[in-house]
Amino acid sequence: MTITVDRRPEAPSGPPKLDRAQLRKAQDDTLATPRMDYSLLAKMMFKPVDVMYGAKGSYTKFAMLEIIARVPYQAWERMGYWAMHRHRGRSALARRVYERIVEARADQDNEQWHLLILQDLVQRAGQRQNWLLHRVAPWLIAFFYYHVSWVLFLVRPDWSYRLNAEFEDHAEHEYMTFVAENPDLDFVPDPGTYAAEYGRYRSVADLLRQIGHDERTHKLDSLETMREPRVR
Ligand SMILES: [Fe+2]
Ligand SMILES: [Fe+2]
Repeated sequence: MTITVDRRPEAPSGPPKLDRAQLRKAQDDTLATPRMDYSLLAKMMFKPVDVMYGAKGSYTKFAMLEIIARVPYQAWERMGYWAMHRHRGRSALARRVYERIVEARADQDNEQWHLLILQDLVQRAGQRQNWLLHRVAPWLIAFFYYHVSWVLFLVRPDWSYRLNAEFEDHAEHEYMTFVAENPDLDFVPDPGTYAAEYGRYRSVADLLRQIGHDERTHKLDSLETMREPRVR
């Protein structure tokens, strides 16, 4: 007998894919929404990034931001496994913790596609990435962010989610502003390198709008989780 498993919680579909009109609207909505009030910790990451990579958006700056974007989800995944082990005697609770782990992993994967796409755009544009700015610096900031994320999660999980929401809000605005400032991107076709996994868009502008909208979804999810940060 074959048993079909039709509900696979470990493979969620990720943020919704938008059509052209929805992508345009998403851009307008972001640009009409003020940025969140960033905390000192968030500013401690945004400021050096602006100093090192320029205040304006660029493929290389976004690739760098995507390297560190994955980190809090990784920290939450690790803390989730620790909690599952701790609650192993309470199966219903352990299962709810597992659902959080699954979400964190899906968001990590989504960020990983962003990184692959941006890195592909960097390469196609023939932009150079040096060792210090594009290898050492992202590693240092990711290291800092990872440890801040899990320590915050231990003491005040809502602060950990809030910090991520600020990071995602920043990314959302950076992408949408970049697209608005570079109208020529609407005429550059999406190379579609990761079309099978991420979808294919009419232009690089639409591809970046979709990524910007993913960041908004991540932000809203974190703000939502902030209200009930501990699994009960
Ligand atoms: Fe991202
Ligand atoms: Fe994100």
